Amino acid sequence: MHDKNASPAPPLFTWEFAADPYPAYAWLREHAPVHRTALPSGVEAWLVTRYADARQALADQRLSKNPVHHSESAHGKGKVGIPGERSANLMTHLLNIDPPDHTRLRRLVSKAFTPRRVAEFAPRVQELTDQLIDGFVAKGEADLIHEFAFPLPIYAICDLLGVPREDQDDFRDWAGMMIRHGGGPRGGVARAVKRMRTYLAELIHRKRENPGEDLISGLIRASDHGEHLTENEAAAMAFILLFAGFETTVNLIGNGTYALLRHPEQRARLQRALAEGDESLLATGVEELLRYDGPVELATWRFATQDLTIGGQRIAEGDPVLVVLAAADRDPERFADPDTLDLARRDNQHLGYGHGIHYCLGAPLARLEGQAALATLLRRLPDLRLAAEPEDLRWRGGLIMRGLRTLPVEFTAH
Ligand code: HEM
Repeated sequence: MHDKNASPAPPLFTWEFAADPYPAYAWLREHAPVHRTALPSGVEAWLVTRYADARQALADQRLSKNPVHHSESAHGKGKVGIPGERSANLMTHLLNIDPPDHTRLRRLVSKAFTPRRVAEFAPRVQELTDQLIDGFVAKGEADLIHEFAFPLPIYAICDLLGVPREDQDDFRDWAGMMIRHGGGPRGGVARAVKRMRTYLAELIHRKRENPGEDLISGLIRASDHGEHLTENEAAAMAFILLFAGFETTVNLIGNGTYALLRHPEQRARLQRALAEGDESLLATGVEELLRYDGPVELATWRFATQDLTIGGQRIAEGDPVLVVLAAADRDPERFADPDTLDLARRDNQHLGYGHGIHYCLGAPLARLEGQAALATLLRRLPDLRLAAEPEDLRWRGGLIMRGLRTLPVEFTAH
């Protein structure tokens, strides 16, 4: 499927690529829509970049999430998946398993992690958002990643799960370790994952003895009604909720705020709508920010369980397939003016939350946090502006996620 007449493929996974991968993705969509490449880890994988192929691949049950299907898994051990998860025995989580196990676990967690639980959590998210802004509003400047986008989701998920407030700063430290070293040295991440796992196992044990209204107690209760959730599965579930819901939301707030600051007319429009009490542009706007520069650049690993074709390209059994959500969501075959940020965009079935049976379980919570964070920032810091040149901002070099390391801003202190 490689277009032999085209210019050579642009370099992938360099620093320039991390700062702006979209031109390279446009090239791939056009000339090599299903492209085999060596990843920074050395593993070879297929990148799927067109919207139609991406959507189909995400729903294709012949692509397994279970790393045992990786042809290199015998010698490529530790190169795919979440660092440290093997040693901490957290492998049996939703993003690593297929039906029927996936169906059973997803049904159990869905009983406890309901849209209603999330809706009832809205006042707490607003309170957290305001408290974090209170912490820097008098300075007239802040790093919005470190002081706002990073702590908000970690405290929110800890609260939801039922981690006592006095222990939440430990999670903040472990999560900081994971995000700082993501894609870098793995030793620290593995240690942080292990500590989190030990803590969660103990917490599950305590909640079993002494249940409350929190999500962990809900998970335990769901398992007590006939179907079975082992302690290890409950720990893996709590862990994946933390892991999947943390850096993603950091990046939604970070990338989203950055895109608004770079598009003053769109931002002014949103600010006007909010001042008039109209939240409809906030709802479509957050979806558009997910499409335009979403937190998850590549969907998590998939492996071919048999020889198959995607977009006319033959993929061999055991080959890893990475669906490039960021490329699919800018496909001109699917979206009008895909490189334009339009907060009012209506026809916007983006893949930012994935598609099919692994569709993001936390989407209602992510929407709640993203909308609260952006609306509150714009309301309370109306003259918010970037305090760095865009060229000087650094993006994290991780494989799956896309997000800024820092986001320095200024505003009138009050
Ligand atoms: C799955 C994106 C926030 C929990 C996914 C997937 C994507 C995604 C793309 C599918 C991955 C794949 O198919 O390989 C996002 C984005 C978020 C976000 C963009 C923020 C803006 C959250 C939050 C939570 C969460 C807040 C929970 C607290 C999960 C879980 C899965 C998942 C548990 C696995 C579902 C399954 O395999 O059945 N997410 N996510 N996510 N997400 Fe999210």
